[in-house]
Amino acid sequence: MLFNNIQRERIRDLETPFYYYDLGLLNETLEQAKHAADKRGFHVHYALKANFNDRLLSVIQSKGFGADCVSGNEVQKAIDLGFSADKITFAGVGKSDKEIILSLQHGIFAFNVESIQEMEVINELASKLGVIAKVSLRINPNIDANTHHYITTGLDENKFGVPTSELESAASVIRQAKNVELIGLHFHVGSQITDMNVFKSLCVKVNEWKNWFEERGTQIKVLNVGGGLGVDYQHPDDNPIPDFQTYFEIFDRFLERAPHQEVHFELGRALVAQSGSLITKVLYTKSGVKKHFLVVDAGMTELMRPALYQAYHKIERVDTDQEPGVQYDVVGPICESSDCFGKEVPLPQSERGDLIAIRTAGAYGEVMASHYNLRDEVRYLYSDALNLSPSL
Ligand code: LLP
Repeated sequence: MLFNNIQRERIRDLETPFYYYDLGLLNETLEQAKHAADKRGFHVHYALKANFNDRLLSVIQSKGFGADCVSGNEVQKAIDLGFSADKITFAGVGKSDKEIILSLQHGIFAFNVESIQEMEVINELASKLGVIAKVSLRINPNIDANTHHYITTGLDENKFGVPTSELESAASVIRQAKNVELIGLHFHVGSQITDMNVFKSLCVKVNEWKNWFEERGTQIKVLNVGGGLGVDYQHPDDNPIPDFQTYFEIFDRFLERAPHQEVHFELGRALVAQSGSLITKVLYTKSGVKKHFLVVDAGMTELMRPALYQAYHKIERVDTDQEPGVQYDVVGPICESSDCFGKEVPLPQSERGDLIAIRTAGAYGEVMASHYNLRDEVRYLYSDALNLSPSL
């Protein structure tokens, strides 16, 4: 249950929709992840793309995580919020010159480079600035992550990384590039991965390609295995925190590495998804020929995942403990049939004004919001405000 009775009272008259962030759960999730990683000497960079809400980022920064960024603006935000430059990586398949220059000027830890051409551009820009750019080469290992095809990134057909057939020429470009220092290899095969065997297969590929480079006399300091650990969208209350122990243990066991080699992770969703819920109000109830609809005041403009990936999010009433009695299609106000959060969702009989939570929305929720239909800016509520402020 998301809210107790006092909290229910307090949220009843708030303007909706809003993102509710449970800072206690965020804290506990980060603690568990950090503990499991530190125990094995692993480094975790939080992938800002999952959620760059300032308040959440500050908590994440304060726990000692690094930052994995995919735009110049994310790099700048990480710097502004206190992440130290030597804990910032910059990834992405299409970095602009402006973004590369900004990151070089900040002296970030490393660029995760996605193509030979990008390597050449970074070398040229670094040379103009008179600096050495540290880079990790992103290799496309051709592994199926068994997840939604839109968030699969490690197959030959995906646009990401350098295909293994081009590694020979990549290695020779790197050897000649005077302003680029290769420090690591980077892999990321997809997101919302729940099949742990995918990570075992990834370890096998990492070992293989690390050896390949070492046999050619290139020392690799950093093995960056990306992110992708999934969360339980079906049962957010039973599994609020992902099993970080098992996840890190797989890499600990299956990744071959020398003592001087660091293992880096770029976790996004696993660190923040369960801490966020989208709270929305029923505007209208409608019964069609075959259907009961709840028209709510949040739409695909606030949470795009169901419309974009047919993603499942648990939907529940937050203002009652009544048992479900009706199956509703829960839809938003946007003029698109894809603006639907869930079909045939079992819920208690509901009326205009009732409050609904769309759970597990802390990752890729707020950040993917849009202004389509000139909708309002996204609003938030943080759990500490709810617990402490008597006059919300
Ligand atoms: N590293 C790289 C290179 C990535 O591309 C991503 C995510 C991550 C790390 C973080 O992955 P995570 O730990 O969050 O799985 N909008 C989609 C997800 C897109 C993921 C993109 N890349 C969704 O809502 O499911």
